[in-house]
Amino acid sequence: MLPQILLPRAEALAIAAALYGSVALGTQDAPNGKVDILEFVDPLIGTSNGGHVFAGATLPFGMAKAVADTVGENQAGFAWDTSVVTGFSHMHDSGTGGSPSLGNFPIFAQPACPNDDINQCKWQQTDRAVAWEKDSVVANPGYFSIALANGVKAEMTTTNRSALYRFTFDGSSESLSPVILVDLMDLPQSRTNGTAAVDPNTGRLTGNGTFSPSFGIGNYDLHFCVDFKGADLRDTGVWSKNRANFTVEKVKVTADGVDSPATLSVGTFARFKSPANNTMMARVGVSFMSVSQACANAEREQPDFDFDGTVAAAKSAWRKKLDVISVDAEGVSKDLQEVFWSGAYRAMISPQDYTGENPLWKSDEPYYDSYYCIWDSFRSIHPLLTLLDPVSQSLMMRSLVDIYRHEGYFPDCRMSLCKGYTQGGSNADVLMADAYLKKVPGIDWDTAYEGVVKDAEVEPRNWDVEGRGGLHSWKGLGFIPTDDFDPYGTGTHTRSISRTVEYAYDDFCVAEMAKALGHESDYEKYLERSGNWINMFKADQKSSINGVDTGFTGFLQPRYINGTWGSQDPIFCSPLLDFTSCYLNPDGHETYEGSAWLYTFYAPHDMGSLVTALGGAKEFAKRLTFLHESGLLYVGDEQAFLTIYQFHYAGRPALSAKYSHFYIPSQFNTTYAGIAGNDDSGAMGSFVVLSMMGLWPVPGQDVYLITPPYFKELSITNSLTGKVSTIRNVNFDSSYKSIYIQSAKLNGKPWSKNWLTHDFFIEGGVLELELGEKESQWGTHVEDLPPSLSDYP
Ligand SMILES: *[C@@H]1O[C@H](CO)[C@@H](O)[C@H](O)[C@H]1NC(C)=O
Ligand SMILES: *[C@@H]1O[C@H](CO)[C@@H](O)[C@H](O)[C@H]1NC(C)=O
Ligand SMILES: *[C@@H]1O[C@H](CO)[C@@H](O)[C@H](O)[C@H]1NC(C)=O
Ligand SMILES: *[C@@H]1O[C@H](CO)[C@@H](O)[C@H](O)[C@H]1NC(C)=O
Ligand SMILES: *[C@@H]1O[C@H](CO)[C@@H](O)[C@H](O)[C@H]1NC(C)=O
Ligand SMILES: *[C@@H]1O[C@H](CO)[C@@H](O)[C@H](O)[C@H]1NC(C)=O
Ligand SMILES: *[C@@H]1O[C@H](CO)[C@@H](O)[C@H](O)[C@H]1NC(C)=O
Repeated sequence: MLPQILLPRAEALAIAAALYGSVALGTQDAPNGKVDILEFVDPLIGTSNGGHVFAGATLPFGMAKAVADTVGENQAGFAWDTSVVTGFSHMHDSGTGGSPSLGNFPIFAQPACPNDDINQCKWQQTDRAVAWEKDSVVANPGYFSIALANGVKAEMTTTNRSALYRFTFDGSSESLSPVILVDLMDLPQSRTNGTAAVDPNTGRLTGNGTFSPSFGIGNYDLHFCVDFKGADLRDTGVWSKNRANFTVEKVKVTADGVDSPATLSVGTFARFKSPANNTMMARVGVSFMSVSQACANAEREQPDFDFDGTVAAAKSAWRKKLDVISVDAEGVSKDLQEVFWSGAYRAMISPQDYTGENPLWKSDEPYYDSYYCIWDSFRSIHPLLTLLDPVSQSLMMRSLVDIYRHEGYFPDCRMSLCKGYTQGGSNADVLMADAYLKKVPGIDWDTAYEGVVKDAEVEPRNWDVEGRGGLHSWKGLGFIPTDDFDPYGTGTHTRSISRTVEYAYDDFCVAEMAKALGHESDYEKYLERSGNWINMFKADQKSSINGVDTGFTGFLQPRYINGTWGSQDPIFCSPLLDFTSCYLNPDGHETYEGSAWLYTFYAPHDMGSLVTALGGAKEFAKRLTFLHESGLLYVGDEQAFLTIYQFHYAGRPALSAKYSHFYIPSQFNTTYAGIAGNDDSGAMGSFVVLSMMGLWPVPGQDVYLITPPYFKELSITNSLTGKVSTIRNVNFDSSYKSIYIQSAKLNGKPWSKNWLTHDFFIEGGVLELELGEKESQWGTHVEDLPPSLSDYP
């Protein structure tokens, strides 16, 4: 196990050393200066109002994620806007939509059974739900604690594959006889088969179950192993619904049993004598492989049930991850600092390292899971990881290539060892191109290239879970028709507009790799297909809001197979009109989770053509301003991110800075409802970090759009090369009136381009930005603009 976990990292470092000569990974446990950056991390941000952020204890990218499970929007187990807790479980996802994720095998503690009668304890989920105390919740990296109305305080922490719970009981020790149960349940109530057993001599609880993923197809098996410390065992048994029995040691439920629906609450328990200091511990190992591996994981990672030591190790792991960034926070409010560091923290909760825990195939490659979903994560999470943790980014990309090897396609979404739903294009293509251009080490590029070409060429049988649908039309017509005829595979025939523009950009990313890898004819082919977005552009299309013409002409519109235009109101699926009509279901529409207004801006590879199509730079900036000012844009969906910075392409980098501050902190703040939309595995968190760093990465390109950081100065240490990159604001103004770049210097030399490349982060350097209160000429000339396939008008 351990060598399996460590080997890929060691390999990545060896490759990095070969590539870059020196490798400096040494980071100290002591935070920079006197301030502990973890004090600026609040895991409760985004736990209310649909943020679905995981608030519990986890290591960076850890598989074990322990938290209290509540009733309500419990996608990540705990949500602030709830009132009762039903248990504590050991695995979760963070920020996701779809069904609640994981939450398998919750344990639950009671101080004693009334009248010492085991049948008067609360057993099934509906009965045991108990109020939690709002002011009791403490959440910080590696630690979560909560007090319940039944007199139990539960604290939890984790290692990579096990959780450790410390229960403290109210009340006099004479009346204490704690009961701890495990339930064969999961959060989405998806269990089919399950077994649970208890060892009457030790109190060890073990078992397994078969469950469904929360946003995908198929099922997965999971195993658990619970051990106790701190109290003498009194008796053990099995429970089902609201009854318990001491003599039985095993219980089994099957999908085919009429009495065993997925909602059946059933499991085992152990009862204890009064513990010393009213405190005892439960250690839970988890594994996708077997019960014995679940037990071994826990025994190896937490041999001593050392609660405080485990918390300290987790904090140290988080500090190491975050210490690569240092900021001069002079004048910056504590709230904004919290928004920043909490965002960085949330970007490192997933994907999760399941290396050695993948029963589906044998491989020496790393295995990461909870790419949930790449449609969300390619835009900001992976670009941020490439900056802050390129070693993990390398392991993740290798894992994706290995998934391609064994499943036949890259995923666009994946969780719990299962294929997740594709929302648009095949956006792993963007990830691969991005990693290639940014020289992420250790990746088998030939296989990666084979994978992206397969996305572009071979339609899968079920294109709802991998690859692309409508490829026949894509290659023949150059767009996805709204009435597509597609006998070559099955999938959800919606989103013709958004799929077309995403396929076009995905093909551009394939073209970039083709060129770099010397596949010249492929390059020509995919470059040509990358121009297909224009085929859905209806040049004379107008758009009105409440009957008033917006004054802009030319929007993406649906088309039929015969080439004639269909129609979807350009504002449809925006917050102004039927916003919720465009989700991933068979009666969805032509655009996905956004309007034609929004998708009309998506041609990141050919902004010259797009600016021309929209009437030139002035008109483009006017239209983009309207998008942000009119209420047409919801910043809580990831396609919105790039539009905030696209003013750069119209020679108006000042407006990008302005709109960055328009959304931060008004939509991203320290309240528990303080993120727009679901966090989507840290997408919102990484958006805010990249925005505040002042370098917006255009995913799939070696391009960072420059705006001033929200700090006086900010540095990033590249953990592969050891080099430091510093961005410094001259005339920094923490009231953010002076947010317009007047002039810039890169390593002491004037820099007039409004973008730079990843070399800055590989080689290190200093970018100095002189700020002022007014928009200047800096970065506004055609020669200052980011790369585009076609010339700018
Ligand atoms: C946890 O896993 C990470 C890799 O995901 C590894 O670097 C780290 O050493 C592991 N921690 C422990 C305590 O095994
Ligand atoms: C559940 O177990 C039965 C046999 O006990 C087996 O036939 C069935 O395939 C299992 N279901 C799943 C989803 O694993
Ligand atoms: C679950 O555990 C039971 C009892 O040990 C075993 O018979 C069964 O094969 C296990 N199921 C899975 C899916 O591992
Ligand atoms: C517990 O289960 C055993 C074995 O099935 C049974 O003989 C006994 O009557 C049960 N006891 C109670 C209290 O249900
Ligand atoms: C109980 O608490 C005391 C004082 O904090 C401590 O010294 C002792 O080790 C604790 N005992 C146990 C069994 O935890
Ligand atoms: C094209 O197809 C659409 C949808 O079937 C139909 O409404 C339209 O009349 C057709 N146009 C022509 C020119 O055939
Ligand atoms: C905090 O962010 C949320 C979510 O975007 C927003 O609804 C709320 O108005 C913001 N609160 C403040 C005080 O800015």
